[in-house]
Amino acid sequence: MQEHSIYEFPDIFRVVHMERPGEIAEEVSFLKQVWARHLSRPVRRVLDVACGNSPHGQLLAAEGIRVSGIDRSPVMIAAGRREARGLDNLTFYRRKIERFSLPQGGFDAAFFMSETFPVMVENADVISHLRCVARALRRGGLYCIDFDKHEGLESSRRRRLWRRRKVRFHRVRIDVREFLRPIAWHAAAWIYELECTIHFPDRTVMTRDLVPVRYMVPKLLDFAARATGIFTLIACYPDLSFDAPLNQCDRRWLGVLRRL
Ligand SMILES: C[S@@+](CC[C@H](N)C(=O)[O-])C[C@H]1O[C@@H](n2cnc3c(N)ncnc32)[C@H](O)[C@@H]1O
Repeated sequence: MQEHSIYEFPDIFRVVHMERPGEIAEEVSFLKQVWARHLSRPVRRVLDVACGNSPHGQLLAAEGIRVSGIDRSPVMIAAGRREARGLDNLTFYRRKIERFSLPQGGFDAAFFMSETFPVMVENADVISHLRCVARALRRGGLYCIDFDKHEGLESSRRRRLWRRRKVRFHRVRIDVREFLRPIAWHAAAWIYELECTIHFPDRTVMTRDLVPVRYMVPKLLDFAARATGIFTLIACYPDLSFDAPLNQCDRRWLGVLRRL
């Protein structure tokens, strides 16, 4: 059977990624609180990095903020443009996150949600990415990055099944299997393999995505920011909370960088 990518099926990708109803709105609300806490000026223009169909951008644009989203997937961008019809302040650009430029800079803030930043496993890509974001931001602008909590390097020597689930999207059943595959010990990364068998009423489609995941903790983000010479890490917030201590982080954390 020919294999596809889950990103060819934007609606199904959302249920596969276990997004809870209301989760995107909670994230947007937290981002706005972070901006209010760390910026002394109003946020009028924001950059959504690896935006997909930009669910966060759609909510912000509906409130009157001008949003630009970048993503490499034409299918995700097309879905975003369809969904955002009527919002002329949400613009999509097909770009790779590692190296990009935009027609206009001067953004007040940028964000990278959905724990995708660690796909950049090479140091050169991380630094070049941060410099591209810095070029897009105004001086003092914020870059908020959402990370999964990584509790230790994957030490398994062979590919292993990590999780197995069944989900539904209307009349479509999806069998999901997630594998972890090791790569070189010195890569400080592993491969997350997502396999979905999608049972449409009239056909079955198989998707397989191999996603490299760089081991990331706040200290390493701080190190990367310092290495650029243009960002500084000003805060790390666990689980969308200003109060919880970082060492009680349960699932995720948000790193906040300020452009110098
Ligand atoms: C998990 S989705 C998140 C989309 C969106 N931010 C959200 O919260 O729904 C990850 C997105 O990252 C994009 N992506 C992954 N690697 C990329 C790269 N190297 N350059 C540009 N986009 C990339 C994919 O196309 C996909 O749309």
